[in-house]
Amino acid sequence: MGNLRHEIVDSPTTVRSMAKSSVLILNGPNLNLLGSREPGIYGSATLQDHIDSATSAAATHGLTVQSMQSNSESELVNAIHAASGVHDAIVINAGAFTHYSWSLHDALRSFDGKKIEVHLSNPVAREDFRHVSVLAGVVDGSISGFGGLSYVLAIHALVAM
Ligand code: DQA
Repeated sequence: MGNLRHEIVDSPTTVRSMAKSSVLILNGPNLNLLGSREPGIYGSATLQDHIDSATSAAATHGLTVQSMQSNSESELVNAIHAASGVHDAIVINAGAFTHYSWSLHDALRSFDGKKIEVHLSNPVAREDFRHVSVLAGVVDGSISGFGGLSYVLAIHALVAM
């Protein structure tokens, strides 16, 4: 995605290819409860609100967004496998899987596009078990602590990369 901003002004052909660029936003366990789950930490917006904001940000850059939420590790692994060759980038908030899912780590390693880890909260400022991300080493970058804006910032980061 690195040169897309140049390409869009360079030729109609690349405008078409940018329009096809696709981002998959994956969300892990308990994120379906956003809106009612610990609002003091995660805010009152729902996951759909965050996806809508990210989709709007992506649309301004000609990117399309698909999203999925699952409480199942295997479904997330399968979604990452299926993303290769279909999506150009993955934005992932793996929820608590962030801290121990080597299956997601390995699946992300094999995805051939850009990868950004996002978190609503700032895990390193919370309990000790949240201080480690087993995904951090296999993504291009991580964005944490900005609430729903973390998803939007991830879209901007993908465009800027
Ligand atoms: C989270 C942080 C994780 O530690 C936690 O388990 C979540 C949400 C976040 O977005 O801040 O479920 O990923």
